[in-house]
Amino acid sequence: MTRSRIGLFSSDPWSKRVETLSQALSNLAVEIIHVIPWKVARVGSTKHHLIHSGGVDLSTLDTMFVLDLGANDIGAFFNRIGLLSALTEMGVRIINSVSSILLMRNKSESMRKLISAKLPVPKTLITESIDDAARFVRENFPCVLKPITGFGGLGVQLIERDFDLEHVYDYLKFHSQMFGKGAYILQEYVRGPGFDIRALVLDSEVIATMQRVSTGGIVTNIHAGGTPRPNTVDVSDLAITAAKSVKGSFVGVDIIPDEDGNPWVLEVNATPGWTGIQKVTNLNISECIAEWLVDQSV
Ligand SMILES: Nc1ncnc2c1ncn2[C@@H]1O[C@H](COP(=O)(O)OP(=O)(O)O)[C@@H](O)[C@H]1O
Ligand SMILES: [Mg+2]
Repeated sequence: MTRSRIGLFSSDPWSKRVETLSQALSNLAVEIIHVIPWKVARVGSTKHHLIHSGGVDLSTLDTMFVLDLGANDIGAFFNRIGLLSALTEMGVRIINSVSSILLMRNKSESMRKLISAKLPVPKTLITESIDDAARFVRENFPCVLKPITGFGGLGVQLIERDFDLEHVYDYLKFHSQMFGKGAYILQEYVRGPGFDIRALVLDSEVIATMQRVSTGGIVTNIHAGGTPRPNTVDVSDLAITAAKSVKGSFVGVDIIPDEDGNPWVLEVNATPGWTGIQKVTNLNISECIAEWLVDQSV
């Protein structure tokens, strides 16, 4: 049997998750190609087209696992989505698929999918109109404002001060300049019990969950300093339905319970980390992903 060739697409190949996943894949005798997005080259001439990284022709991979896209600027984003789409056409299995990554990276589209799947979603307005955004804030104060393509909790803000309500146009204008770049997501504030839940879904199964507690403010993301702790609330059905709704193979679903314990789905993440959730989980997540990737690559 030939060895599987798996590409690990990450802008941070020295991170703990890439390191542990690489180790787990090596133990399964997989050939690993580390693909740093900005080091990938596409070479084209009249009769020839090649996508390579450090001399390796990436169309020879069985699978490319996207750990992070690492692109905030539109140029790099289109380049990376383009090359992953091209590799799909060349027969490489991309995980998550390009179309599902695109859905999840766009909060307005993932919300549409969550709603179609009949999942509970907090009341949300997505708009480019500062007038309409300001009206939503007035009618739903206090409420949450977030950027349309954000992740890691960046730019997620609770508008709760009377001062900010009085100066809502300035508030929205500055948020747009910093984070939203012209589009606003406004959302009903789910007053929770002080934590939210992250569920890691692999191939339609929940493999791990955790509760995340913020260090202050509403944002609980581990990247923003949130702390993981074990979770006992069963969110399996919601998490699996959410993952399926965006056709994600490996995703992180964010769910927040309200004061009555009713769960609300906030979002589905295309490139979830697992360093935090591993701290409160017995299952070895890197090994679990590695085994699944190898099964997919034969
Ligand atoms: N509507 C909301 N009500 C209460 N808390 C929220 C709401 N939206 C987001 N949060 C908090 O902010 C965090 C980040 O928001 P999220 O929508 O998941 O964006 P990101 O993509 O940046 O993670 C959530 O995990 C949650 O803790
Ligand atoms: Mg989130």
